[in-house]
Amino acid sequence: MKNYTVIGNLKMNVPTNINKYFKYINKVAAKSKAVVGLAVPSVYLPLASKTCSNILFGTQNVYFEPKGAYTGELSVSMLNDFDARICIVGHSERRTKFGETDADVHAKICALLDAGVTPVLCVGESLDVRNDGKFVKFVRNQLKAALNGLTKEQASEVIVAYEPIWAIGTGVTATVEQIDEVCANIKSIVNKAFGVEPKVLYGGSVNEKNSAEIMQIPSVNGCLVGGACLDEYKFEKIIQSCK
Ligand code: PGA
Repeated sequence: MKNYTVIGNLKMNVPTNINKYFKYINKVAAKSKAVVGLAVPSVYLPLASKTCSNILFGTQNVYFEPKGAYTGELSVSMLNDFDARICIVGHSERRTKFGETDADVHAKICALLDAGVTPVLCVGESLDVRNDGKFVKFVRNQLKAALNGLTKEQASEVIVAYEPIWAIGTGVTATVEQIDEVCANIKSIVNKAFGVEPKVLYGGSVNEKNSAEIMQIPSVNGCLVGGACLDEYKFEKIIQSCK
């Protein structure tokens, strides 16, 4: 049996009643075969730490410096203060809309690992790169930059999410073959470099209708879900599709 992880990425959205939402997903997680995670807007961390005892909750970003004059940023120790367990790093929206570089991603991963918070590293190509056929090379470069210099133990803590940019929020899901090709490559690239096989999630227009098929893909260990996680019943169905 596969060991699944399903993480919801709320992005800058709030479910209608977030308290009820957290409680509901927490109950779903208690009964689930999959490990359930939620990356919440950071102001909801205090609420998550009270209500999400069965969930790996955390944030969608962090800054790598420990403290200081970084207006608007959050440190890893602030994440620790609310028992955050995961943090998304290098999401394509952060890379493209906020100018996050490979060096930032690497520094954030190091800071998180030092603080005992699991990084969920997002990688994935644009449509242009996909059409050029250079997507595996592109993802390999993102992985190399992000994980550069980690020890085997550190590398084994990182969850990788393959999120082709062209599939995020578009309703266009990558095909089973496309997902398997890149996720299998991610596993072998990390394995070759560190001697560990990472958990690899797929993200990009995952919903309650396509999740069962995606979970069956041999190289996939779960999903990172954006839009569809905002509805607790849809998210529940996605979680339940991990058999
Ligand atoms: P989506 O987003 O499920 O809405 O495509 C996924 C993500 O950006 O993590």
